[in-house]
Amino acid sequence: MTKAKILILNGPNLNLLGKREPEIYGAETFLDYYAKLVEMYPDVEFDYYQSNIEGELINKIHEVGFSWDGIVFNAGAYTHTSVALQDAIRGVTTPVIEVHISNVHKREEFRHKSMISCACLGVICGFGLDSYRLAVEALLNRR
Ligand code: DQA
Repeated sequence: MTKAKILILNGPNLNLLGKREPEIYGAETFLDYYAKLVEMYPDVEFDYYQSNIEGELINKIHEVGFSWDGIVFNAGAYTHTSVALQDAIRGVTTPVIEVHISNVHKREEFRHKSMISCACLGVICGFGLDSYRLAVEALLNRR
């Protein structure tokens, strides 16, 4: 079997992981976590992209969304607001899994609503950075 190609896509403020509200998001930087994830799955071809800009996230989804095997997407606060990201996910054929580090349902009410869940294959939230690995497992189990 050819290597699965999975994009890890992070939205706004997730470049600050490690420094940003560590009591909620933990003390590890995303790049440190990503290096471990890549090591855990030698048979997967990963790429990682982060942007604070909604249109750049949309462009990335369009770029990989017809040829890659999966996208693990933490849309950050755009989760709760972005019809454009929902449309981008709907518009491609690659399955997208929505992930969140925190359990958004235990937090403020505005975080309980996701604009993108309805376009995604599934949602994983609340397991810290391990949410990303669980999403990778879910994608690989479908192959
Ligand atoms: C988040 C949850 C969002 O509500 C928040 O805006 C984020 C991070 C999470 O991973 O827990 O930026 O997506």
